[in-house]
Amino acid sequence: MDKKPDRSLTDHLQPSHIPSARKRIALLFGGCTPEYEVSLQSAHAVAGSLDRERYEPLLVGITRQGDWFLYNGAEEKIADDAWQEEGNCVPISLSLNRSDHALLLLRDGHVEKLPVDAAFPVLHGRNGEDGTVQGALELAGIPVVGCGVLSSALCMDKDRAHRLVQAEGIPHPRSRLICRHTAKEQIRRLAAEIDWPLFVKPVKSGSSFGITKVSDPQALSSAVELAFSYDDTLLLEEAISGFEVGCAVLGNDCLTIGAVDEIELSEGFFDFTEKYTLKTSAIHVPARIDDQTSERIRRTGKRIYRALSCQGFARVDMFLADSGEIYFNEVNTIPGFTAHSRFPGMLAAAGLSLTQIVTAAIELSLEKRSDS
Ligand SMILES: Nc1ncnc2c1ncn2[C@@H]1O[C@H](COP(=O)(O)OP(=O)(O)O)[C@@H](O)[C@H]1O
Ligand SMILES: [Mg+2]
Repeated sequence: MDKKPDRSLTDHLQPSHIPSARKRIALLFGGCTPEYEVSLQSAHAVAGSLDRERYEPLLVGITRQGDWFLYNGAEEKIADDAWQEEGNCVPISLSLNRSDHALLLLRDGHVEKLPVDAAFPVLHGRNGEDGTVQGALELAGIPVVGCGVLSSALCMDKDRAHRLVQAEGIPHPRSRLICRHTAKEQIRRLAAEIDWPLFVKPVKSGSSFGITKVSDPQALSSAVELAFSYDDTLLLEEAISGFEVGCAVLGNDCLTIGAVDEIELSEGFFDFTEKYTLKTSAIHVPARIDDQTSERIRRTGKRIYRALSCQGFARVDMFLADSGEIYFNEVNTIPGFTAHSRFPGMLAAAGLSLTQIVTAAIELSLEKRSDS
């Protein structure tokens, strides 16, 4: 485990680097995505840990319908999903004019420009973690905290991410791609090629939405139907016998990696309920594996991060198979950020507080901009 963050990161965290004027950071939360609720919890944690000596937050709430508001109310109301009831919401939009790098406040028929230094999309899943919001912000000339358009879009697409990572010589679970036009008979044939049990998953989803572990052919069609309610393309994927491990990666060129974590399951898989209640599963940080294996996972995590052009930060998830082989699962470009989430947990084990992580992520986005 890297006990110390690397040098460039340490530099960003020095008090001498506190700018004389606070930088204004737009924190985007909510969003038109099935993962709206998860985002509220992450955004509440990020807002609560923002270093107020360095940064002034602008809380930008996005409704489930995709409408943007500047929110001036209590931060607790974000976690409770009561922020829209506050009477403290003013419609806001993004100025696409690059010389503004601003949000446009629409108040009483007037437009007010609110310049921002960076925007932190604390959004999960579609329309937030998939490159769409990143694209709008980049077009507007506003530095984006975390991954940019390309890496966000690639990591949201589990099939394309697998192909790129495989080109680096890192294996992924065997899979078959199906779309809405794939005939039922063909789906059954492809599933039989994978063998049972297998996972049916939407290509673009998160928080385990739409995912089923299927143990026999009779359960296949209902699993496929469920997954199609989340996406137009699906993966039928070999179930890896072993356990899932993760790497928290922070950095642009010079990468800091936290402790490797491990998900211990006692039944089924890491579904939505388990992820947010840990009723029958547990997360171990550090993972209960030897140092050599941990180092192998960390090296693989870095290679995956680079293969997918990630910037700022991301959580790289892999499986450690019973055979000892490491398989790529997926990259979460905006992982959960609550005090109980895996990403901050792995970095905490390497000595970084949530405030330091958020500071580093913001400074890395500003550094990226000054490079370009
Ligand atoms: N090929 C696989 N082998 C074993 N378990 C899997 C496999 N694919 C998914 N899972 C289980 O399902 C969970 C969710 O799948 P994942 O692909 O990570 O989707 P999400 O983006 O929703 O997190 C994983 O955390 C793991 O428990
Ligand atoms: Mg996952």
